[in-house]
Amino acid sequence: MNFPKRYTVTAALPYTNGPIHIGHLAGVYVPADIYVRYLRQLGKDVVFVCGSDEHGVPITIKAKKEGVTPQEVVDKYNRIIKKSFEDFGISFDNYSRTSAEIHHQTASEFFKKLYDSGKFTEEVTEQLYDEEAQQFLADRFVVGTCPKCGNEDSYGDQCEKCGTSHNATDLINPRSAITGNMPILKETKHWFLPLDQYEPWLKDWILNQHQKDWKANVYGQCKSWIDDGLRPRAVTRDLDWGIPVPVENAEGKVLYVWFDAPIGYISATKEWAEKTGKDWQLYWKDEETKLVHFIGKDNIVFHCIIFPAMLNAEGSYILPDNVPANEFLNLEGNKLSTSKNWAVWLHEYLEDFSGKEDVLRYVLTANAPETKDNDFTWKDFQQRNNSELVAIFGNFINRVVVLTNKYYDGKVPAMGALSDVDENTLFELRAYPNVIASSIEKYRFREAQGEMMNLARLGNKYLADEEPWKTIKTDEERTKTVMNVALQIAAALATVSEPFLPFTSRKLQKILNLDTIKSWDSVVTQKELIEAGHQIGQSELLFGKIEDEEINQQLEKLAATKKENMAEAKTVEPQKELIEFDDFTKLDIRTATIIEAEKMPKANKLLILKVDTGIDKRTIVSGIAEHFSPEEVVGKKVSVVVNLKPIKLRGTLSEGMVLMTQNKDGKLVFVNPDEKGVDNGTLIS
Ligand code: MF3
Ligand code: ZN
Repeated sequence: MNFPKRYTVTAALPYTNGPIHIGHLAGVYVPADIYVRYLRQLGKDVVFVCGSDEHGVPITIKAKKEGVTPQEVVDKYNRIIKKSFEDFGISFDNYSRTSAEIHHQTASEFFKKLYDSGKFTEEVTEQLYDEEAQQFLADRFVVGTCPKCGNEDSYGDQCEKCGTSHNATDLINPRSAITGNMPILKETKHWFLPLDQYEPWLKDWILNQHQKDWKANVYGQCKSWIDDGLRPRAVTRDLDWGIPVPVENAEGKVLYVWFDAPIGYISATKEWAEKTGKDWQLYWKDEETKLVHFIGKDNIVFHCIIFPAMLNAEGSYILPDNVPANEFLNLEGNKLSTSKNWAVWLHEYLEDFSGKEDVLRYVLTANAPETKDNDFTWKDFQQRNNSELVAIFGNFINRVVVLTNKYYDGKVPAMGALSDVDENTLFELRAYPNVIASSIEKYRFREAQGEMMNLARLGNKYLADEEPWKTIKTDEERTKTVMNVALQIAAALATVSEPFLPFTSRKLQKILNLDTIKSWDSVVTQKELIEAGHQIGQSELLFGKIEDEEINQQLEKLAATKKENMAEAKTVEPQKELIEFDDFTKLDIRTATIIEAEKMPKANKLLILKVDTGIDKRTIVSGIAEHFSPEEVVGKKVSVVVNLKPIKLRGTLSEGMVLMTQNKDGKLVFVNPDEKGVDNGTLIS
């Protein structure tokens, strides 16, 4: 492989108006972290930067809503987000903030340079203005119909449905997000980056030079924007939150957030360089530096068209070599949404699954939305943990370590004569680093991680086939060789798992009692990664099984969110897909009576009901405790799905589901046959 001299790797600066969730991790930060950890293992010169994106309209909207200052909003979420990154082992060299002094300076200078060299056009145009709020409406302060796809709730800067980015004045039927009023048009002066002038250059740079090496989704989006024709884009806004426009006669104007934020990558590098005594310019201005931007797909236009045009206009910077943008991750079939609280928040995940940071990294990489949108489900999370991490990786390591301790007091036995199987296994082992590296170099992280797991599989199968626990009784020499080979695989895993599972790799290193893990290269070239006579440590659980109950709790949580959202939206749910008559007749719904009820200990949402179904008297756990006291429900006539497969909830088996609906205040009500004289057990059909 031909390596560049150094790397600058950036991960999108998250907006600081809320915590981060699994979608952020899967789409941007875990892939970026895998890439960087891999490069560091190769001993490459790399800087990995990120930081909080603290300007922009959503932050001021959030502040207004909560009755606090924008500064308080960003201080709060900067802290939470930063901690989440640390918790999940995202190994930034520097995590900065766009409110940092150095960033204000860097962004202002950048603007000033373009301004002084005549790169902007200055225009007085009519912009949307909210008379009641007495302010101009830019970007997310406006909602309206997307001119491209007809989405009625498009934002002023970007339509979330079709991804198009536009100017607020392009929206059909615009309305103010502050007051809901119809805005008027009012004249104001702004500076524009004439993107149209960069079109020929962008065409050549992207369409000719990067057709092959950029991901199809990224290339495709760029092509469609360029084909649509590029237009001048305002780089200033009439707002009071942001970096003041650093020229005369620009009172009340700030830099457009998408102008300042990507410059944040540069400021973050400068800040890092100051702390470490490096020269930041090498990382941004030397042609031998490879610049890679990790982002989600809604950021493509900004990183592939606008920011490169800015860098080109400035003239002294390098351009990104690649922008491996991911598609979106969904959660249980629905789009992740901060406003609808449809998400797995990282800080909440840790409340329930502390110590399982690597499990989430693993599952998100295994399902990474690399080529298309993908779905995160809790079942799949459980399945991958139990049948891959526990059953393959964990099991292999545990066997190797336990047996080495048992047979040899933890001293690595010497390798004797090698059988064909041993030779082949070692040969395969040495091939893995390159196989994994080649996938990583192509930004195919799920494939890379799959290969890492195949190495664990190789080890697992090798032990299962060679059965040292049997040969120990018949052939001591053979057993030593087998255990030695298995230990080599374990040591190799400590190395190649590190980019994906950094916490596990560290644990494994400790279990094997290695001072450092071996380098990526030495796995290929070194005959013994762990030498005969080396003393290893005791076994330690790498991964624990995840029980149905834990998963059911997460599903319950999401179900509650869905109900809350429905109550809030007060809209009629659209009709579900058509089903066959047969599907309907499979449902066994009966009339029944609740005969006993008690609160589930330590669960504020759950009641344990005893229900007379006419068939039997059974237990049903129901998530209604916030709406009913146990006394209230005893004696109630209800409808029950009786042939739903029983599930365990907090240790109690629930055998059916009580049908509920909601009144217009969002309070739950029972679906009950009002008619007198309907006996329990009568079929509802
Ligand atoms: N804050 C933006 C988002 O979350 C990303 C900014 S990336 C940067 O979508 F390039 F501007 F930094
Ligand atoms: Zn649209």
